[in-house]
Parts: sequence; structure tokens; C-alpha cells
Amino acid sequence: MVVVSGSNSGPMAQQLAEALGWEHHLLETRRFPDTEGYIRIPSESIEAMRKEPVVVVSNTFPDSGIVETLLMLDAIQGVRKGDMQNLRNIGPQALPDVGKGVILAIPYFGYSRQDKRFKPGESISAKAIAEMMACGCDGIAVLDLHAPAVLQDISVPVAFTSAMPELAQHLKDTVDPDFILSPDKGAIERASNVAQQIGCEFSYLEKTRIDAHTIVHKAKDLDVAGKSVAIVDDMIATGGTICRAAEALRSQGAVQVHAACCHGLFTGGAIARLLRYVDGVHATGSLANARDVISGGPALARGVRQLLAELGLDS
Ligand code: R5P
Repeated sequence: MVVVSGSNSGPMAQQLAEALGWEHHLLETRRFPDTEGYIRIPSESIEAMRKEPVVVVSNTFPDSGIVETLLMLDAIQGVRKGDMQNLRNIGPQALPDVGKGVILAIPYFGYSRQDKRFKPGESISAKAIAEMMACGCDGIAVLDLHAPAVLQDISVPVAFTSAMPELAQHLKDTVDPDFILSPDKGAIERASNVAQQIGCEFSYLEKTRIDAHTIVHKAKDLDVAGKSVAIVDDMIATGGTICRAAEALRSQGAVQVHAACCHGLFTGGAIARLLRYVDGVHATGSLANARDVISGGPALARGVRQLLAELGLDS
């Protein structure tokens, strides 16, 4: 089987290919002067795309990632269906259809945070994006999705996978925390699994988001005096959530505070801001970022294997 990537997930695709022991093929990606994208499967990769199931690794972030993912899926479906017709008359113009076998593996699912309709007339963006992707593939594996429930009934099977086991191992090996904190209720399951794997204490905060840049945490007594604490979340964007949680921990006597997440978006100078509050920042490479210290490949591989088995493509 083959792993394929475009412009936004090359290193992650390479990690996945290594974890699965498969070949990794890079598609040709370019931009026209007006910024529109162009995708082509190199001629030397076409046979591989038709021989076995294909796993396309691509982020739906930033917005250009959505278009690139759709175009990659379209190009791969085209060659798998045998639709080779081209104006230059290069090669055979038609080949037999090789059937289903295209999986999309999404390291960072952009638009995942709009997972509900809060006001009438809103798009449930996470579902809308997933359904667009579902049109071009037979299944989707997604890494540490913000709120998995939103994709539970989309039109193709979805495998939800998580890098929290690797994140826990990394924290154990480097920080060896005494305490894991979830900065809000949404991260409780992830963070408590990390605490359980490390074998340390756990608690959570109750967070209210006033706007994109303003976070308020409800006061809570945490037994962290003299302790080393790691705050675990699915993603860090502006860093506001982590900075406010770190303040609460420091004010209650925590001696070391680290921040760990799967998705390091780190928008608008977030790393510099975070380093005023925490002793270390740890992330996977689901998105290219300066704190990529945890491999996401094994977690994505677990999701892909689960999906291949579910689709009966694992022979
Ligand atoms: C929200 O519930 C997420 O799990 C993160 O806590 C949030 O997106 C982090 O955003 P920021 O870094 O901007 O506070």
C-alpha cells in the first residue's frame, strides 16, 4: 500500500509510511500566479496508486489545505477509476477501474471547533468539511479531533485516533510530571488518559471563553504546591487557555509548569507568550511548528489500520 502527500503534510506522511512500512509518494503541487492550486500525480507514481489502497495524508488547514486535499482525492480517484484521458494523448487513455481503496488520513482537521450550531443560521463547519472530504474517499482517519461526536454519522467510516499515548510517554521521559491538568472540561478524557498512563495525579479547570483572546477560569483549589505539572490539551492556538491555567497553577505553588498538546497552531506569537508562563511547550508535528517533539505517525497508523480492517482492505 502507499502513503501519499501534497504540500502540507510531507513529514507526517513520511512518519506514517515508516510506521506502516509502506512507500511514500509526493504529489506535484504548484500555485498559479492568481494563487489557485495545481495537483498532478507524477507518471512514475500512477501504477502504485492503482495497485493497492492509497492513504492520502493531508490537513484541512489552512483553507488552501481543504482545496488541495479535494484535488488530491480527485486526481487519485481518477487514476484508480482508469480515467486517463488527456489532451496530449500521453499513455493509455483508459484503464480498468481498480475499485475502492482511498483513505484520507487527516493529522489536523481544520474547522473542527465549530462542531455545533450555537445560533440559527450557522454552518456546522466541522461536519460540512468532513462531508466534502467524504465525497472523494472511502474512509477518514483523523488524529485527536476536537470533538469526535460531530463526525459520528457522516457518509463514510471514520477512525478516531489519538497521539496521547505518545504524548504521555514523551512527558514521562522528559518532564516526569507529578500532576496533569486539563485546562477545561473538553480535554478531560484526553488529559486523564495521559495522567493514567504516567501514573500521576489529575484534575481539571472550568473555563469560560469570553472571546478568541479572553479566557476566564473558575477558581479551584489544586493540590499542586511544590509539584511539577503538565497541562494537556488537544490544541494550542493563541495560548490564552494555557497561560491562564499556568497562572492558576503558579499561584497555588506549582514549581514547574509544562504545556503539551497534539496540535500546535501557535497563532500570533503564541510561543513567546507561552514561554512567559510555562517552562516548556511540547507538540506533535500534525502541523508544522517549532515545538514538534512528539511523533504523530504511530497514532495515525493505528487509525489507518483500524479503517483498513473496517473496510475489508487489510488483506
Ligand atoms: C478548546 O476547547 C480547545 O481544546 C483549546 O483549549 C483551545 O482551542 C485553545 O485555544 P487558545 O490557545 O487560543 O486558548
